[in-house]
Amino acid sequence: MQLNMTSSMAFIANAPAEPALLLQQLLDGAQRSKSELQSMNLATLDAEFGVLNRTVLYRGLSADNCIVYITQRYTRNYKNIAANPKCGVTIYLPHVSLGQAEPPATWQVRLIGATAVELPDAELDAWWAKESLAAQIRNLIFPCGQPIDYEQQKQKHDAYLQKFLEDKQPLQRPPTYTAFKFKAQAWDFLKVGENQIADRLQYRQLATATGQWQSLHVST
Ligand SMILES: Cc1cc2nc3c(=O)[nH]c(=O)nc-3n(C[C@H](O)[C@H](O)[C@H](O)COP(=O)(O)O)c2cc1C
Repeated sequence: MQLNMTSSMAFIANAPAEPALLLQQLLDGAQRSKSELQSMNLATLDAEFGVLNRTVLYRGLSADNCIVYITQRYTRNYKNIAANPKCGVTIYLPHVSLGQAEPPATWQVRLIGATAVELPDAELDAWWAKESLAAQIRNLIFPCGQPIDYEQQKQKHDAYLQKFLEDKQPLQRPPTYTAFKFKAQAWDFLKVGENQIADRLQYRQLATATGQWQSLHVST
């Protein structure tokens, strides 16, 4: 066995007072191609399959610094969350550069004890306006998780697109379109570089009126 004769301990330095600020720093330092969107993993409790996870898009932070997620009310994940709002969320960031002095590291951001809270209807138009045309059309005319006749669906799509290009009217948000934010009991940040032992920093919310966070290093 070839053993690499080096080892060190990763260290999460200069952590800000709030976990969402650290997440923002990591997203800013994440090396992605320009067109690549940030994804995250969302696990819910499903009556048929038990724990069920899937990849979804990271949409940003709410005004109160919670991670936002967008879905449709007819999906299984929406039904799961409606029945049990406790969720698991992880974001994997394989190449993060936080500054020139530091070599790129791999990070995982994990929400622990996250509860999904549906956003009020008044906030949804702003999210809908940010969707790509393809996403809006999918939201309007594609069923989720149902078998489809591909050719029929393609004709429906092409006709819808054609009408949109002729009418030049913004597409209206369907009533099934919705969004959640995740209120977490704790945020867990894991950082590791090559030949390193990972460092983890956990933020836990203190039971104070100001909602301050306490952070502590946790062994991996
Ligand atoms: C990169 C990527 C991003 C996705 N983003 C979303 C999303 O933001 N919202 C969503 O409902 N589904 C999204 N999906 C689809 C989900 O992974 C999943 O297939 C869908 O939500 C149906 O899952 P369910 O049957 O568990 O409800 C995304 C898939 C991929 C691969």
